[in-house]
Amino acid sequence: MEQPDNQGLRILCISASNNFRPGIKETYSYQICKSVLDEAKKHIAGMEGEIVELKNLDLSPCRDCVKCLSSRRCATDDTFNRLYEKIIACDILFIVSPHYAPIPAKLCMLLEKMEEITFYRWDKDTSYQSEVYGIKTAVIAHGGGSGNEVAQADGISQKDYKKVVNDPIANALHTIQLKLIPYDDEWNTGIVVKPETAEQGFDKKIGQYVRQVLNVEAT
Ligand SMILES: Cc1cc2nc3c(=O)[nH]c(=O)nc-3n(C[C@H](O)[C@H](O)[C@H](O)COP(=O)(O)O)c2cc1C
Repeated sequence: MEQPDNQGLRILCISASNNFRPGIKETYSYQICKSVLDEAKKHIAGMEGEIVELKNLDLSPCRDCVKCLSSRRCATDDTFNRLYEKIIACDILFIVSPHYAPIPAKLCMLLEKMEEITFYRWDKDTSYQSEVYGIKTAVIAHGGGSGNEVAQADGISQKDYKKVVNDPIANALHTIQLKLIPYDDEWNTGIVVKPETAEQGFDKKIGQYVRQVLNVEAT
């Protein structure tokens, strides 16, 4: 059932894929972002959803110039600054990331800049609360393997993906002061989903996780 106080809720989905493979119309990360917003809309008709695809952004790595200590913005990357404003303005953030040995470079660039903006201030004053403090954040990972819960011989399991994709993202989110929403005690840094598309029917965990993050019941 729709909850009135959720009207106007802003959900930002970041697709971390950098996939420009010929013939690919929509990356898998983007498709998952769409399914996240579709599920959210079922419960909160008045929400505002947006997907940002990092593949389309020219982000640059942090140069540790420390100028963000005073400005809280990157001195050399306005593309990052525009995305950071969107993150500050959202109520709920979803980060959808493929396994890219370990995570896509542009997601690293985004996380490292947000981290330094917060860390430099926090280092001087440990009571400092960042501009994104407490924003509910969900992490959905996937990879090129089967994505089974338990690996086949020589295969890769969802737990392996958790270690290399979800957990490092979670560490950065902690420093940035975003509030990571766990799926359960075991999947405490978000979920890993099977590579199933809209046609095949997305992994049911996506819908369950979205509902948990939104704090709504299944309809
Ligand atoms: C640079 C790069 C490295 C990758 N490394 C891995 C890997 O180590 N393990 C894995 O399971 N998949 C790996 N993949 C495969 C992607 O995770 C997989 O193709 C995924 O479905 C891509 O999702 P996307 O369409 O959202 O980019 C890699 C892909 C790329 C481009």
